[in-house]
Amino acid sequence: MCGIVGYIGKREAEPILLKGLERLEYRGYDSAGIALMQATPPSPRPEVTGRGKQGGARILVYKKKGRVADLEKLLKAKKLTANSFHLGMAHTRWATHGEPTDANAHPHLSNSGDIAIIHNGIIENYLSLKKILTEKGYKFKSATDTEVLVNLIEDVKKNAKVAINEAVRLALREVVGAYAIVVLSKDEPDTLVVAKKGSPVVIGIGKDEFFIASDATPLVEYTNKVTYLGDDEMAVIKNNKLTVKTIKNKIINPYIQKLEMKIEELEKGGFPHFMLKEIFEQPRSIKDSMRGRINGKTGMVKLGGIEKLQDKLFNAKRILILACGTSWHAGLEAKYFFEELARVPTVVEYASEFKYRNPVIYKDDLVIVISQSGETADTLNALHLAKEHGTTVFGICNVVGSSIPRATDAGVYTHAGPEIGVASTKAFTAQITVLLMMCFLLALKKKTMRKTEAQKIIAELENIPGKVEKMLLKNEAIRNIAKKFKNAKNFIYLGRGYGFPIALEGALKLKEIAYIHADGYPASEMKHGPIALVDENMPVVFIANKGASYEKVINNMMEVKARKGKIIAIITKGDAKAKKIADHVIEIPETPEPLMSLVASIPLQLLAYHIAELNGRDVDKPRNLAKSVTVE
Ligand code: M6R
Repeated sequence: MCGIVGYIGKREAEPILLKGLERLEYRGYDSAGIALMQATPPSPRPEVTGRGKQGGARILVYKKKGRVADLEKLLKAKKLTANSFHLGMAHTRWATHGEPTDANAHPHLSNSGDIAIIHNGIIENYLSLKKILTEKGYKFKSATDTEVLVNLIEDVKKNAKVAINEAVRLALREVVGAYAIVVLSKDEPDTLVVAKKGSPVVIGIGKDEFFIASDATPLVEYTNKVTYLGDDEMAVIKNNKLTVKTIKNKIINPYIQKLEMKIEELEKGGFPHFMLKEIFEQPRSIKDSMRGRINGKTGMVKLGGIEKLQDKLFNAKRILILACGTSWHAGLEAKYFFEELARVPTVVEYASEFKYRNPVIYKDDLVIVISQSGETADTLNALHLAKEHGTTVFGICNVVGSSIPRATDAGVYTHAGPEIGVASTKAFTAQITVLLMMCFLLALKKKTMRKTEAQKIIAELENIPGKVEKMLLKNEAIRNIAKKFKNAKNFIYLGRGYGFPIALEGALKLKEIAYIHADGYPASEMKHGPIALVDENMPVVFIANKGASYEKVINNMMEVKARKGKIIAIITKGDAKAKKIADHVIEIPETPEPLMSLVASIPLQLLAYHIAELNGRDVDKPRNLAKSVTVE
């Protein structure tokens, strides 16, 4: 959570930083701020929020509670001199320590006003550090852990009489926690220092200029040469030179890679929200997830990223899936097909719970971690725990080069393209697509599926993008259903078997973007409690496709109807029986059950989207949330 961005070079820093913040705003939107290095202040001096001695360079800091747009307004009003800032950094915050206020917004200045910092992460031992610094006379204006860190750096710099990069390095040796930081010092107005542990940082390398960001989206129009900092690494950029070293002071050679991202992927392309754009991208994104990896005619499944270690998958006695949120739902759906088609016991755990108990992990387990962002702290920590037990870990991630794929033994990228809306949509269907391909590979190897059977289901998978396209044609009809239920206070989502994780995911989408309470439940469990909630005001969404539990789901629908609940049912095309019972139906094309979630989740995404949009919610940036949850 939180987005950080930095620039050093010949261009005007401010517009680059602000544009970068707009791109990163999905990571947090409680406050925004900017620090600009003024190497030679004009006379008379303009108003500054950061202090600094007369004569030399100064760091100007502007920050504000609220969105990036509020910061932009503030800067406009300040009328900063054009073309005078070529070094700077900016931050968009998701509040952890301290409420969203102007004072708690980043950047934070040290007591002297000479050093500025932006930070994504949590300094866990900040209270003990704060106590020591307070005893030395340091004063704090904010409630943040970050202000403690910048004063620690100042204290080290003062006492050790070292350059800023060395002060940062020494200070970080005293820090427990996670951080991605950028630090500027007015004593070295040509230097930018970056460091990372636990939170992501990418450095874009241009011609005589460098860009820093939490992910690659702010860099894409400037350069396609990037390097990702590793944990316990820091970078010093000075005189057009990038030096990367470890916190232990060992110089390392940065691995520079090509950024594969297009600018159009980062724009709304005529849609009112990124979420709607991403829902509509799914025919393409599912295709991209499969591209070159399967062939229905020959029954080929080839997942290059795990090829070298695929024996670990073939020999696994158990598959253990670790993930959070929507990625966890994808994992739960996979449990059904891994067990049905490949006959391998599969356990799905919330990564956030896994780390903090004493889980049983066997060496011959195959662990699969699933994460869109590749940065979720809970998932990353669960991954590390699994590795400590000597288990092989595969990753399924969307963001190339992010922390999880770098920490796993092998993995498969989903290739869904950047997902900007906080509510995950196309990443979910891409994760399921990859998990299905993994399952087919395993089932073929274990001969739990005949080749002809595999060819058939692979061909069906290849047909899914076409079916998703058909579902998208129902957008207006789904909006009409949404209009009828937009004022409901509660929803229940029910499904059995393969339909259960879809119900959970549908309910999560509604909760997070429409702020309407929704409970996902196995339809079979309804009688054991939730049915007490059903009355004429309760909308109940059923996943009622024709599958193994169809008749049972129909019975559950009857039970809801008998209690006057309002039924919205996802049904198989032409199902007259279900149509008679339900108040509203959304038909999906006939699809083999293991693939059904790829089609049935689309109307639920659209239903949640339209209920949220009709209620005037901030669909892409729902309150209290952030796209990647990089704190535990
Ligand atoms: O990036 P990840 O897939 O690891 O994120 C996991 C969850 O935080 C994420 O799926 C979250 O639940 C989304 N907001 C759901 O739409």
